Amino acid sequence: MPGGSAHRPVFDVIGIGFGPSNLALAIALDAIAQRGMPAPKAHFIEKQESFCWHRGMLLPDSDMQVSFLKDLVTLRDPTSRFTFTNYLHQKGRLEAFINQRSFFPSRIEFNDYLGWAATQFDASCFYGEEVVAIDLDRGDGSPALLRIASQDAAGRMITRHARDAVIALGGSPSIPPVFASLRKDPRITHSSRYLDNIAPFEARRSAELRLAVIGGGQSAAEITLDLHGRFPEARIDLLFRGQALKPADDTPFVNEIFNPDFTDFVFAQAAERRRDILQEFRSTNYAVVDTALIERLYAILYQQTVTGRRHLALCPRREVCAAAPSPQGIVLDIRNLTTGGSESTRYDAVILATGYERNIRHTMLAGLEDQVKEFAVLRDYRLRMQPDFHPRIFVQGASESSHGLSDTLLSVLATRAWEIATALARLAPPPPDMPSLPSLCTSLATYDIRHRGV
Ligand SMILES: Cc1cc2nc3c(=O)[nH]c(=O)nc-3n(C[C@H](O)[C@H](O)[C@H](O)COP(=O)(O)OP(=O)(O)OC[C@H]3O[C@@H](n4cnc5c(N)ncnc54)[C@H](O)[C@@H]3O)c2cc1C
Ligand SMILES: NC(=O)c1ccc[n+]([C@@H]2O[C@H](COP(=O)([O-])OP(=O)(O)OC[C@H]3O[C@@H](n4cnc5c(N)ncnc54)[C@H](OP(=O)(O)O)[C@@H]3O)[C@@H](O)[C@H]2O)c1
Repeated sequence: MPGGSAHRPVFDVIGIGFGPSNLALAIALDAIAQRGMPAPKAHFIEKQESFCWHRGMLLPDSDMQVSFLKDLVTLRDPTSRFTFTNYLHQKGRLEAFINQRSFFPSRIEFNDYLGWAATQFDASCFYGEEVVAIDLDRGDGSPALLRIASQDAAGRMITRHARDAVIALGGSPSIPPVFASLRKDPRITHSSRYLDNIAPFEARRSAELRLAVIGGGQSAAEITLDLHGRFPEARIDLLFRGQALKPADDTPFVNEIFNPDFTDFVFAQAAERRRDILQEFRSTNYAVVDTALIERLYAILYQQTVTGRRHLALCPRREVCAAAPSPQGIVLDIRNLTTGGSESTRYDAVILATGYERNIRHTMLAGLEDQVKEFAVLRDYRLRMQPDFHPRIFVQGASESSHGLSDTLLSVLATRAWEIATALARLAPPPPDMPSLPSLCTSLATYDIRHRGV
């Protein structure tokens, strides 16, 4: 239970969002506590009713894009009970997994792993509440605290107080402006809600359906393949602005940019150089598709030329200029960027696989605007606040511009969580060459554990 008076319980740390980032943090704080060191107790507020990792994209035929060894903890402590390997062992699938000879589990299995780990923190997580505001409660002479307001599904407001907070919200759907006024139309869906919103179309005969997918990234390609399997007779158009679907660069030298120590390198660069690095390696992650998936799509298109039955079309160099609802469907005005010509086409459903936005200046921080020195984080992911602001707010997953491309991905979860956990516990930061956890903890135990401030 949190400390404080019965009137106003005070939490040590509240994590906002309980996806992989804050789950890794829960594990890191648990590791500190398990070794007998003083660790703050963290609680989490998650808007979903239960743990799920990108629910709308748990496609039956999709795999992970990083090695399972980049799980919640292995890169920091391969001996932890929270490794993917231990999960397989507990589930009795270790040998069978090995026999598959793959580093890349299905996304459904990795979600099951994450859910298995999350269950072990059920007592610390408030599910079904969306955090809407964080501000400062200056109290009555006692040290100022963060006041965190959330809303449950019934619309009830809940307020909690905490000494520190860790925000890890993930991305929010990026909707192209031409679709902005149609957000509520059930025939238009962002990829993040794909599985929820495509289900009603299964009641219709697939030969009647005409479906559009917008975008040229991994989500667009996976959804296109899924639609092709789900509605074999439907007409499916994949519309994207580029000339061709491009492969994600996951070759070994390039992949080193996702090593945790590359974060130090990026952070040490001047802003302009950081921008250049992001641009140079953009093709590892954005608007690119896994090579094996490109090959599967190509094989489908080739087979169509053999059978003469054309259900799926890739439409490169296309941009949607306008979208209008009609009783028969959504009418898209589509410009051909090569010829300059336009055409109108009616679709029964349009899936926007147009990516995600991440804004460190989130609306939930509006009440703290005058306390924030700069909407950017320090190397330890702490938001830059005015000097007289004492609670600490850490942010995970919204500092790609300062910490590099790995910031939104799983690659640095284990080490980033450890960096934040040690900062929360006011332990000295881990040495740069990051020894394995048992030896790291031994050395940390000798460090000065400073007074807990508030
Ligand atoms: C379909 C898909 C597949 C991906 N696959 C990979 C992959 O294979 N490898 C890889 O490295 N990366 C992958 N990614 C990148 C992805 O960002 C990371 O895998 C990971 O999800 C990041 O974890 P997170 O906790 O920061 O964010 P998220 O997983 O997005 O979790 C954020 C959590 O915060 C909750 N939340 C948001 N707002 C609030 C609020 N106001 N109040 C309370 N709770 C809130 C959300 O419900 C969510 O549970 C994928 C992304 C997508 C979209
Ligand atoms: N199996 C998996 O592991 C898996 C599955 C899905 C996603 N992911 C991950 O999730 C992250 C996001 O991938 P994503 O595919 O969702 O997004 P993304 O890589 O950001 O791609 C978005 C696509 O939408 C296009 N787009 C954006 N705005 C547009 C507009 N206004 N009009 C037309 N097109 C527009 C972009 O085109 P331009 O290039 O022309 O701007 C781009 O092709 C990545 O990290 C990815 O690896 C992983």
